[in-house]
Amino acid sequence: MGHVEQPDEQPGGGFSTPVGSRRTFFHWVTAAAAGLVGLGLAIPLFSTLISPALRRRRRDWVDVGAIDDLPSGQPRQLDHVTSIRDGWLETTSRKAVWAVKQPQGGITVFSPICTHLGCGYRWDDSEQKFLCPCHGSSFDVNGQVVGGPAPRPLDTLPSKVEGGRLLVMYKDFKSGLPRSVET
Ligand code: FES
Repeated sequence: MGHVEQPDEQPGGGFSTPVGSRRTFFHWVTAAAAGLVGLGLAIPLFSTLISPALRRRRRDWVDVGAIDDLPSGQPRQLDHVTSIRDGWLETTSRKAVWAVKQPQGGITVFSPICTHLGCGYRWDDSEQKFLCPCHGSSFDVNGQVVGGPAPRPLDTLPSKVEGGRLLVMYKDFKSGLPRSVET
């Protein structure tokens, strides 16, 4: 009687069963499921931790007014208003920046935050200085420190003129340092 070859016979004489391939299949299914769970956890984590940081870094130019309205050499406080959308929630952020039209041309825009410890300051017409009420720092019309503990001049904000309008990009800076460091 001739030898009939069995299709599942292995070289060692054993027989393969469907169990091995089933095990491999389950192994891959488990790995895929674990991968999906990992991805499901990673996406919210990314949007919670990383995405706000990216959002924070996205800056927009904001129209703060006509340059013809700015008197030469006299600081003017201007509203810098932006809308921030977070999902369904839309909030409005309002900052009051200080703009100075230089007599020799050009416009300088100052951050409204004192460089000492972050208080708001104001322009005093009679003293011709920016005065901070918190610890007595004062700055001249060019933002240079002329009194008090402020460690550096006022921080300047990026600005440009388009079609007779002043556009400003708002930024935050760390206070208390001898040089400007953006946050
Ligand atoms: S915060 Fe302005 S002087 Fe201290």
